[in-house]
Amino acid sequence: MEKAGAAYKVHIETFGCQMNEYDTELVRSLLKAKGFAFTEDRECADVVLMNTCAIREHAHNKVYGHLADLKALKRQRKLVIGVLGCMAQNLKEELTETVPIVDVLAGPDSYRRLPDLLTGAIAAQEKGDVQRGIAVDLSEYETYQDIMPEQATGITAWIAVMRGCDNFCTFCVVPYTRGRERSRAPQGIIREVEHLAAQGYKQITLLGQNVNSYRFEDWDFARLITAVADVPGIERVRFTSPHPKDFPPALLDAVAGHPRICKHIHLPLQVGNDRILRLMGRTYSRKEYLDLVEDIRRRRDDIALTTDIICGFCTETEEEFLDTYLTVQEVGYHAAFIFKYSERKNTIAARKYQDDVSERIKSNRVTRLVELQKAISLRKNRSMIGQTVRVLVEGDAKKSSDQWMGRTDTNITAVWEKRDAGTHPGDFTPIKISHVSATTVFGDELPAR
Ligand code: SAH
Ligand code: SF4
Ligand code: F3S
Repeated sequence: MEKAGAAYKVHIETFGCQMNEYDTELVRSLLKAKGFAFTEDRECADVVLMNTCAIREHAHNKVYGHLADLKALKRQRKLVIGVLGCMAQNLKEELTETVPIVDVLAGPDSYRRLPDLLTGAIAAQEKGDVQRGIAVDLSEYETYQDIMPEQATGITAWIAVMRGCDNFCTFCVVPYTRGRERSRAPQGIIREVEHLAAQGYKQITLLGQNVNSYRFEDWDFARLITAVADVPGIERVRFTSPHPKDFPPALLDAVAGHPRICKHIHLPLQVGNDRILRLMGRTYSRKEYLDLVEDIRRRRDDIALTTDIICGFCTETEEEFLDTYLTVQEVGYHAAFIFKYSERKNTIAARKYQDDVSERIKSNRVTRLVELQKAISLRKNRSMIGQTVRVLVEGDAKKSSDQWMGRTDTNITAVWEKRDAGTHPGDFTPIKISHVSATTVFGDELPAR
């Protein structure tokens, strides 16, 4: 094997969605094959990579903050800095012009070129030169099909089954940073799942910017997820992010009926007002969305629903916002991610509409919705007190290594005291719920039945 990167230590920081987390694992795998090593400690790294997100202004600002820190480090010693991901793709050369310490830029479809770009930048630096490496071509075909990412936990793994997005919702930058939709061949996906199952992985999450638009020859998403859930050894299958427009009955039947497909659907609403939905280009009306919710609940009323909401999109009035508020109340989501609208460069909304809702009003709408959702989540979690749920043990709780953290089938986080020395990450264990918060259920581990 070629050892181009031998002995160079790379530190990677990841921002953004699960697809970016997954891509970081792909990048690790690609760099490792070329002899690069990795470090958790930025201070002793030869190369610092940031896998970035461009979805909202806040995501950009975080990256600019980190780059400012790196500037000081780069003044003290040799350091190659690379920006990967959606911000690299969206800003391209503009980023290296505004932040000249950046040596390498690589967009989401260009990671195969990364080892060479880094090697070039390192070699130039050794000679006291600077060599900029920029790879930001989008591809209609790249799915990294042959690359097995380095999965971190040993219990839960992600697989990107499709990449890109053709929907062009008017507010969203993703079609520009991730390019056109393309799906991976099912045979390769299933082989990867079998391989993960053989290594002891218990849960697979199928990923895609529009995961349920998956299509490969005569395979659609319902067929794919069923085939993945049928792989022996895999106990749970999740998927994210779906679009409400692609839920044929076969997919709803698969989620409701297959014992190993999790009873949770993330169903991004964005807003509950038809005029704003049209302006956003979401392709469904409030009624069509609510009909889908009813269709899901008619099949099984224990499927947990979660959503994404945007507050203060161009021209949204108070009354129109109240339609969203009432829709959130009516559906009763288990959880919701609620965002202020953030105008993104290149998007249709940035070109055609005016971002005319003030920051103050956007914040106020977000706060009201967050309060509402908190109350709903708390009510839903409280109704679980006294019940026993089956959770997959994922590892130590965030706050204390004396506690375990796991998740229910419906994707609710559970935390409990470690008692039984026989419990290990990767086990399924019954937890009797004794108390709850809006985001977590707490309880005691019962003897396994
Ligand atoms: N493909 C998924 C969404 C991916 S982006 C879907 O269509 O549902 C994740 C979420 O970020 C979106 O659902 C949306 O709520 C939010 N988002 C995207 N662009 C945004 C913007 N410009 N401002 C605020 N929130 C945004
Ligand atoms: Fe963005 Fe819409 Fe595509 Fe989701 S479906 S990634 S919101 S353009
Ligand atoms: Fe962000 Fe790109 Fe994901 S913009 S949300 S990292 S697809």
